[in-house]
Amino acid sequence: MVERYVDMLGMDETIQLLQANDTPLPVTIRTNTLKITPKTLQKRLTSKGFELTPVEGLPIAFEVAGGDYSVGATHEYLFGYYFVQGVASMVPVEVLDPHAGEVVVDMCASPGGKTTHAAQNMNNKGRLYALELNPDRMAALTANIARCGVRNGLVLNIDAKEFPSFGTKVDKVLLDAPCTGEGTIRADPTRKHSRELEDVMFMSATQKDLLAAAVQIVKQGGEIVYSTCAVAPEENEMVVQWALEQFPTLSVVETPRILDARPGVGENPDLQKALRFYPHVHNTEGFFVCKLQKRVSDPRELSRKTSPRRANRNRGR
Ligand SMILES: C[S@@+](CC[C@H](N)C(=O)[O-])C[C@H]1O[C@@H](n2cnc3c(N)ncnc32)[C@H](O)[C@@H]1O
Repeated sequence: MVERYVDMLGMDETIQLLQANDTPLPVTIRTNTLKITPKTLQKRLTSKGFELTPVEGLPIAFEVAGGDYSVGATHEYLFGYYFVQGVASMVPVEVLDPHAGEVVVDMCASPGGKTTHAAQNMNNKGRLYALELNPDRMAALTANIARCGVRNGLVLNIDAKEFPSFGTKVDKVLLDAPCTGEGTIRADPTRKHSRELEDVMFMSATQKDLLAAAVQIVKQGGEIVYSTCAVAPEENEMVVQWALEQFPTLSVVETPRILDARPGVGENPDLQKALRFYPHVHNTEGFFVCKLQKRVSDPRELSRKTSPRRANRNRGR
């Protein structure tokens, strides 16, 4: 597995990555703006002995230190004032940019970090489908949705690949795909030895199937964010490249380089519009985020389809 990192990053950076994987991940939280402002949250947690440092470039995020107990064990946590979440994992929803009034699908939702984030950016208005295949992961998803005060969510315990058969076309789709989780070794060191190349290839096939379903779900002119906490190009750029070849109306969308993200890797210059986060560069989990749009062939059709949504978005602000 490590040889593949060397191909992608070179020897020096691979060593830095492996060393960073052996250091603990900073504890970070995302303010739930449905319930509290970042400023008030900072004041409340500071009064309990925690030190909160704002994360530059993500006004809803804080790095947390200190405290006599875990930041997941406060009253404020139970009230749903925040979500304990890595900063790179906050980027997909920022890039998806869901707005009040839109119809959004979170295809792989549990435990709900990104569903609850999307709901707050939508100000609880519009429709947010949260799909999850694994019945054992439903309790965490529904508990987080309730804790965070999400009221525009519809939770379905289904295989996301079944959603296209419902016939619902949506504005935006988040596919935070199941993956080998190589990027999460800092939080879960067992991942260091428990994944083989075979797993990477298996996940890559699953990710392609899910991305194909996302393309079917999204309406023309709509957007998809594909993200993983994997490092391997086979689970990231190569999945997107496959989708670009399969679906000619799909294109990669340029997005702001949140948190100084690095570009995607590979030969296709379009894939450099994707965002990559590395433990040794960004002091985060390893993460990949890529925004896609399903174009329509006639651009006049696109403006007709998006204008009511834009009007709606303005009302929601
Ligand atoms: C990376 S985790 C999602 C994390 C979540 N987005 C968050 O931010 O809290 C991937 C999830 O996808 C679920 N999953 C895997 N295959 C799926 C499928 N075909 N349809 C729906 N969910 C699926 C897994 O059970 C797992 O809960």
